Amino acid sequence: MSYEEEYDLWQDNPEQYWEKKAQNITWYKKWTNVIDESKKPLWSWFPNAELNTCYNCLDFHINNGKGNKAALIYDSPVTEQKKIYTYSDLLNKTARIAGALKSFNVGKGDRVLIYMPMIPEAVTSMLACARIGAIHVVVFGGFAPNELATRINDSKPKLIIAGSCGIEPGKIISYKPMLDKAIELSDYKVNTCFIYQREILKADLQKGRDYDLESVIEQSDPAPPVPVKATDPLYILYTSGTTGDPKGMVRDNGGHAVALKTSMEMVYGINSQDVFWAASDIGWVVGHSYIVYGPLLKGCTTVLFEGKPVGTPDAGVFWRVISEYNVSVMFTAPTALRAIKREDPEGKEIQKYNLDNFKMLFLAGERADPPTIQWAEKNLNVPVIDHWWQTETGWTIAGNFSGLGLFNVKHGSTGKPSPGFDVQCLDDNGNPKASGEIGSLAIKLPLPPSCSTTLWNNEERYKSTYLEQFKGWYTSADAGYIDNDGYIWVMSRTDDIINCAGHRLSTGAMEEVLAKHPDVAECAVLGIKDELKGQVPMGFIVLNSGTTNSADNIVNDAIKMVREEIGPVASFRKVKVVKRLPKTRSGKILRSTMAAIADGSHYRIPATIDDPDILEEIKLALKQR
Ligand code: COA
Ligand code: AMP
Repeated sequence: MSYEEEYDLWQDNPEQYWEKKAQNITWYKKWTNVIDESKKPLWSWFPNAELNTCYNCLDFHINNGKGNKAALIYDSPVTEQKKIYTYSDLLNKTARIAGALKSFNVGKGDRVLIYMPMIPEAVTSMLACARIGAIHVVVFGGFAPNELATRINDSKPKLIIAGSCGIEPGKIISYKPMLDKAIELSDYKVNTCFIYQREILKADLQKGRDYDLESVIEQSDPAPPVPVKATDPLYILYTSGTTGDPKGMVRDNGGHAVALKTSMEMVYGINSQDVFWAASDIGWVVGHSYIVYGPLLKGCTTVLFEGKPVGTPDAGVFWRVISEYNVSVMFTAPTALRAIKREDPEGKEIQKYNLDNFKMLFLAGERADPPTIQWAEKNLNVPVIDHWWQTETGWTIAGNFSGLGLFNVKHGSTGKPSPGFDVQCLDDNGNPKASGEIGSLAIKLPLPPSCSTTLWNNEERYKSTYLEQFKGWYTSADAGYIDNDGYIWVMSRTDDIINCAGHRLSTGAMEEVLAKHPDVAECAVLGIKDELKGQVPMGFIVLNSGTTNSADNIVNDAIKMVREEIGPVASFRKVKVVKRLPKTRSGKILRSTMAAIADGSHYRIPATIDDPDILEEIKLALKQR
């Protein structure tokens, strides 16, 4: 079926379309209706149906004779380890972790926070939660204890599973002290932690609270999968947005399984014989969807890579992995390619490997700049496909659909909408913009299966953030345009989010940290263009008059504070002291004007500006950055 036919099929009868896709999942109990819209503007998919996501990822394939097939390839250049887990191996470990969780009274609906590096136990811990109906909350290792504490307070986990350490190029990151600190900082107290002790750095365990994960697994019986409702949460994933408080995106079980299994073939052209590699981290949505759930639901082989695109050990590591394991489709962030291109501009490393089985490279997470795409196309000689994503959706909103024969790549565009998504470009009043004109990219409600339908413990914030700006539409907070051929161009965010090295960060959260400094009177943090990371944050601070502290000291403090409170992943290294910040007469800081000056793009001085001369000082500060 062609892309157009499939899209029309969905538009003609969305319920019938998704009902058919749902037949690829094994259910304990069928739905009463495909979608429930009785609580408009909210909706839910497959109400009253029952399934188990872990069953569909593991047991189902084993029951179909694929127990000995490779499910997960662990490749860790940072520890020089490689290991292949079959579907039976993965189930064995998962069922035992599930048993261990049960023996500590963790059950349906309980939250389990997972704070682990890219190791197989992270994946089996996620699946173990799914097996017993517990809700996993994975937190990325690059966040500081304070961010971890925020997530503990909001999700109130019954138990935490953590690794003793993570490994970054040239350094070992001890996770356990960060975990201890986060537990100390949080108001909600966690009584039980399972710690996976890595050989390279074992952690001290706190008696009565911490248990060695391997020992509890050994003592536990495997647990069977339990039926959960399609609408029950599978996981909460915190993401940045609009204020310093991260949003706990809730993903359901049923819609998620249906959409992700569908997407493997439709979006990525993957069948169960393929090896699929998403070079992301399980702490991000791409890791959840396409390291863990998508490939395993499909029954193909997934790669878990604990390394970086460069420096572990060199800029050829991606091509080595593709070649060694016959990866047919890979998914990464443009920033990773830029890092490789910087070290190997002529693609010499690529020539060293046999990439005959490699079919396609997918990019997402930030705007893919055409020169990077062209470099990859030229050197890899495969289609390089940009596609648009959000944590909120869990799968692609727009792309090029290799499974549906759509292969028309326009550099800089994220392609056409996925079947299930009606994307329009709207003006401030919610009216459609003419093609080619920039506006807010919005998606018609209801969103397709897998998209979050609420925020953890905060339905009102979900409604006010996403559903209130345009009645009947989901606000993506991305701005862009749709061209005459229906291709979507995602250009920038309309809120305080920046994409730094493919990581989603809130500049508002950084401003909240800076504002706590006793010598800072006012501040603004902007995302400015960066050749490698796409964007990096830059802070502007105005000092309290009469401060005796030196500007240099305050700048150093500011950098340290963001690193300590948000984490190294914020890449917050640039701060300028200025006398004043440009504002409107009503006192609103002109962040977008400052960002435009920083990026050297065209800007108009707003008529409402309080004092245009301040912009000159900002320009000077930016020149010296
Ligand atoms: N645990 C602990 N610390 C982490 C971490 C983790 N999981 N991930 C990153 N960090 C730390 C890094 O060590 C670094 O610390 P430093 O300031 O002490 O050097 C800091 O966070 C910033 O890391 P990063 O953004 O990764 O920058 P980098 O300069 O180390 O590497 C790239 C640059 C481009 C190689 C890297 O960002 C990269 O691989 N990006 C691709 C991201 C990606 O695939 N995203 C998926 C979205 S689809
Ligand atoms: P995350 O929730 O971390 O996946 O980040 C989602 C945001 O990343 C989107 O709202 C966009 O701003 C940006 N993004 C993701 N994919 C793309 C893409 N292909 N092109 C441009 N921006 C993208």
